[in-house]
Amino acid sequence: MALTTELTKLLGVRHPIVLAPMGGAAGGALAAAVSRAGGLGLVGGAYGDREWLARELAIVAKGTDQPWGAGFLTWAVDVGAVERALEFQPAAVMLSFGDPGPFVGRIRESGAVVMVQVTDLDEARRAVDLGADVIVAQGTESGGHGARRGRSTLPFVPLVVDLAAPVPVLAAGGIADGRGVAAALALGAAGALIGTRFQATTEALVDPSVSKAIIEGRGQDTERNSVLDIARGARWPTEKYTARTLATPTSTDGAAGKQSWPATCRPARPTRTTCHEGRFLQCRSGRARQSTSSRIYRPQPASSPPWPPKPRTH
Ligand SMILES: Cc1cc2nc3c(=O)[nH]c(=O)nc-3n(C[C@H](O)[C@H](O)[C@H](O)COP(=O)(O)O)c2cc1C
Repeated sequence: MALTTELTKLLGVRHPIVLAPMGGAAGGALAAAVSRAGGLGLVGGAYGDREWLARELAIVAKGTDQPWGAGFLTWAVDVGAVERALEFQPAAVMLSFGDPGPFVGRIRESGAVVMVQVTDLDEARRAVDLGADVIVAQGTESGGHGARRGRSTLPFVPLVVDLAAPVPVLAAGGIADGRGVAAALALGAAGALIGTRFQATTEALVDPSVSKAIIEGRGQDTERNSVLDIARGARWPTEKYTARTLATPTSTDGAAGKQSWPATCRPARPTRTTCHEGRFLQCRSGRARQSTSSRIYRPQPASSPPWPPKPRTH
């Protein structure tokens, strides 16, 4: 059954479902598949790698005659990267994590719909002031990066809906099936933006081991941290945004995590020793290695008591 919302009317899509522009994972094939199925597929342009963009945008443009779009990390790209995407005539461009200001005018000139993903109310106000056509309210359940200190989807979406009205708002974070989409609509959203569920598909540009880990992983196996960004030497503004990853003892909590950071790492500023706050760490051996399972970041078990505690026997 097709549902008509402000989103479906604005973009001319059949279903109020948008593929999140997952950096590197949402390539042209996945975006085209979602658009062909009646949603809006967004290619994950992330850091704006020109070669990657040229390849994947050509795939989506060829792969569907339905509306599709692309998304970028605004803290990481310049206007040139967005202009490269606009050459392929996307129906929408989404901007996330950083000030969308420098990009909005150019996107609007092209005729594409401007979508802005927000993680707190200040970002939501800024998106409204800039005249975003669609605002994505991202709750902290979400996969990928999000607010270090945000609200979860259920309380956050209605706040943004009220603040942004009449601008259509999408709910993002923890939505993976029809019930989630129905819940998003009940909160006043015009649709749902979905990432993780689409990452575990054959069209996604991820190693099969990643899909397997997503399918086998349980919600309680994940947490938000900066470990991955430190390990790969990414320039993410970690004071504001953390990423959801499978948990490691290294990042589980301040006390246990502090004990389990390997000896090769030390706080960059000795006065700030909360080791799980990645921005205060640096590695003596120089640039961090790519993988969290590398020798540098493999944590030692923290010496904390077993949890849950064993029942006492009298
Ligand atoms: C693997 C992965 C990569 C992501 N990369 C981006 C990105 O590059 N740009 C962006 O705007 N959002 C990115 N996101 C966040 C999504 O836009 C969205 O907020 C999130 O996926 C929604 O939550 P869900 O994963 O529970 O569906 C990413 C999400 C995932 C899971």
